[in-house]
Amino acid sequence: MGSGKFLSVFSPATEEERKANFDDYWEFTQQHGGELFEEDRDLAIKRAKLKSFQDNPVKLRKPLADPDAFYRNYVEMKDDPKSLDKMTLMLTCIYKFARHEWVGIKGAWDVVPDMANSHSVEDKISRVHLAEEFCHVRLFDEMLRTCGLDKVEWVPLGPISEKVYEQFPKFPGFLMDTPAFVTELMGVTFYCHLHKLFDDVLADEPEVRERMKALLDEITIDEVAHVGQRRNFIGPTGIKISEWLVSPFYSMFFKDIPEVALLFDVKQMIDDGKAFDFNSIPQHMIDRSWVPTYCKA
Ligand SMILES: [Fe+2]
Ligand SMILES: [Fe+2]
Repeated sequence: MGSGKFLSVFSPATEEERKANFDDYWEFTQQHGGELFEEDRDLAIKRAKLKSFQDNPVKLRKPLADPDAFYRNYVEMKDDPKSLDKMTLMLTCIYKFARHEWVGIKGAWDVVPDMANSHSVEDKISRVHLAEEFCHVRLFDEMLRTCGLDKVEWVPLGPISEKVYEQFPKFPGFLMDTPAFVTELMGVTFYCHLHKLFDDVLADEPEVRERMKALLDEITIDEVAHVGQRRNFIGPTGIKISEWLVSPFYSMFFKDIPEVALLFDVKQMIDDGKAFDFNSIPQHMIDRSWVPTYCKA
């Protein structure tokens, strides 16, 4: 764990600092993801990493007792969630969180400029960012497969929600940047709590537990960088609004996933979001991620 090396993600930044940080992030992200495969919505280094996991699969020592309970409830909760075991709840919860991410990026991918038409460094960053998010969905899919769930389908949301997600990236920056930043922050908070939950739920499954953590870490490393990057889009007023948005935004989002309240301490997640300063992220992950200069002590 780091100790006080970093400052709050809500720390102020000047216009010049933000510009320099965009340039720095652009350098970082090209090294980090490698070549962008626009057609496949994929990145070379991430693809190779996923393949290394797929080529060395691990399995549960004791297979899921009732996979049908997962398949019955993963898109929508049909049973009383309190009647489900923690393992099933955790897996349906992972799917639901990832599904929101997938729907959001699917809508955005078609409306933001592709790399050939990205002229500003911000546009280029955003294109690679979206490709990374598609890689995350593949990693989530691999998590579910690791637990023996190989028949998962990625189901679109209803037509109205899909439309909302499609419109979102077309909003002007001053409306879009704060919720986009808080969404990334919520991702990191959720993944940190999920990482701890693996110790509890997978206590008797050491191989799968370590694999799930390794898969999740790949995602979290990107998301930590996204938090800094999306923060960098925001000016002095927006950053105050973002801080204020954490509580209502997290509450609203997590209320939509009934598993969350049974598995996680939502109040603690909100507190962690408001207090986020990169110091809780292990050093080996920080080393592969990105933090804005104005968040370094
Ligand atoms: Fe993501
Ligand atoms: Fe992200």
